[in-house]
Amino acid sequence: MKGILLAGGNGTRLRPMTRIVNKHLLPVGKYPMIHYAIAKMAEAGIKDVLLITGKHSMGLYAEYVGSGACWGVRVAYLLQEEAGGIAQALGLAEPFVEADDKVLLLLGDNLYEDSLAEAVAAFKQREHGAHVFVKRVPDPERYGVAEVENGVITRIVEKPQEPHSDLAVTGMYLYDSNVFQIVRSLKPSARGELEITDVNNEYARLGQLTYSELRGWWTDAGTHRSLLDAGIRLLGEEEA
Ligand code: DAU
Repeated sequence: MKGILLAGGNGTRLRPMTRIVNKHLLPVGKYPMIHYAIAKMAEAGIKDVLLITGKHSMGLYAEYVGSGACWGVRVAYLLQEEAGGIAQALGLAEPFVEADDKVLLLLGDNLYEDSLAEAVAAFKQREHGAHVFVKRVPDPERYGVAEVENGVITRIVEKPQEPHSDLAVTGMYLYDSNVFQIVRSLKPSARGELEITDVNNEYARLGQLTYSELRGWWTDAGTHRSLLDAGIRLLGEEEA
């Protein structure tokens, strides 16, 4: 299983700080945001991590993350020239993944309390398909929202104005290597990006999408308020 960690994008919701530094290097408690995502991958037993980011702060990532040895993982780096979407960034990782391998895709601004170890171990045993992690939230319109019938996700809608459920699809995804073929078939969305929600909907259409509901705390630290809340929480845990 390979880990693909996304740390690109424009970070527009966190301006003005993101004019001078990439979002995933902003402090969350004691550490830069990216620290937690690498630790999460290591905890899940992932040994090889591909970190994908833009040109903006590439050098700072090399300085902070280095080879990944601090976390007991090997980190390789890949440049995403333009923020063409989460699925576009994922597509760049294809040469990194063997045909019989699987991937854990993690969005660097998503912070999780739950360990992924169990879900990753279970997914390794699966022949094919994809798995997503959902969380009940009060503001589903900020996220990809899952519609579930009889315990199966029938459809995910990206940032719906009128959400049909309160189940946010969080930024952590498990895929078989068929995902790259699906990415190649995508068309850009109205906002000009290749959407990860379209990838997940294709797995749903094939009847190969499973999900689990997170028990612990989760946040997308991509706004000023959520970044602040995450920092206070994680600093509190450090000091406890
Ligand atoms: O946080 C979970 C949500 O993340 C999901 O519920 C949505 O379905 C999914 O589309 C995504 O929505 P966001 O609007 O929060 O995505 P954002 O553009 O903020 O990017 C998420 C992460 O991916 C962030 O860590 C930056 C990285 N990224 C994003 C883009 C567009 C890249 O590395 N490259 C990119 O081109």
